[in-house]
Parts: sequence; C-alpha cells; structure tokens
Amino acid sequence: MASKADDPNLRFMNYGYFSEKQALTLNDEDEKDRYSIQLYHYVASKIDLTGLKVLEVGSGRGGGSSYISRYLNVKEMIGVDISPTAVDLCNKIYNINNLTFKVGDSEKLPFDRNTFDAVINIESSHCYSSMDNFLLEVKRVLKPEGTFLFMI
Ligand SMILES: C[S@@+](CC[C@H](N)C(=O)[O-])C[C@H]1O[C@@H](n2cnc3c(N)ncnc32)[C@H](O)[C@@H]1O
Repeated sequence: MASKADDPNLRFMNYGYFSEKQALTLNDEDEKDRYSIQLYHYVASKIDLTGLKVLEVGSGRGGGSSYISRYLNVKEMIGVDISPTAVDLCNKIYNINNLTFKVGDSEKLPFDRNTFDAVINIESSHCYSSMDNFLLEVKRVLKPEGTFLFMI
C-alpha cells in the first residue's frame, strides 16, 4: 500500500486516535487527516521535540513526518521507509525545509550511531522480521539520552 496507491492525498496508513481530551488545532488542509495526525501527536508529544533531530522509521506516505516537521518545532526531521516508491512520492509531494525522506530498512538503518535525539515509530513494526534487530538499531542511532517514541 505504501508504494502502490498513486493518490498523493493519501498521506497516512494508520488507524488513528481519538480522545475527548485532545482537541488539536489544525490547519484546514490537515483536517481530513485529523485522526491519523492525532495518533502521531499523542505519541510525539510525550516529550518536547523543540530543536531536536528526529527520525521516523516506517514513514509510509509521509504524513506523520510532515506533521511533526510543521507543528512541533523540530530542528530536522527524516523519514525512512523500506519502499522506494513511497520515499520518492514523499520527496515529491512535501516541500518542507527541515524534512527529508530516505529509503532504509528498520533492521539496518542508514545512519551513524548517536545521530538522533528521538526516533518515532508508528504502526509499522508489525511488518519487521526481527523486533530485536530493530530495537538494537534504534539504540544505535539514538544519542545516549535520546528517546524512542513507539506505537505498535
Ligand atoms: C501501516 S504503514 C504505517 C505508515 C506510517 N507510519 C503511518 O502511520 O501512516 C507501515 C509502513 O512500514 C513500512 N515498512 C515495512 N517494513 C519496513 C522495514 N523493514 N523498514 C522500514 N519500513 C518498513 C511500510 O513500507 C509502510 O510504509
């Protein structure tokens, strides 16, 4: 699905999140994705991401990384996905200064150790062949005081 759907308006592939306590203010263009964005917000807002360098593993159609880069004041946001088609699409449809997408495997992340302040992973790890290898990779690319933000 990450690679096959041509429609650039399809920006998320998660089940979404709803809470009466969470009333996010969104730009009009993001309203159609409110529930998927709320899932990202619920997880990402566990820490203050202001000024941080953040990696998303399994970024899919890029909506989550786009949301974080536009609303949460990060210094840099990189989305990684195993699907080259999805990554190409993301690099075409988003034109945001601090946001880039790269092809990569959760079990062999294409980054040096101690690179990121936070790694986020949303409804993607059920696809991986080894959760242990993924977690070892998250630990490797995170800085020692870094945070792993995770939704299975
Ligand atoms: C259900 S989608 C979720 C996408 C996105 N996180 C969202 O919430 O919209 C799962 C994503 O994980 C990606 N994926 C699957 N296996 C992967 C792997 N080994 N490494 C990186 N990404 C992977 C898929 O290509 C797909 O884009």
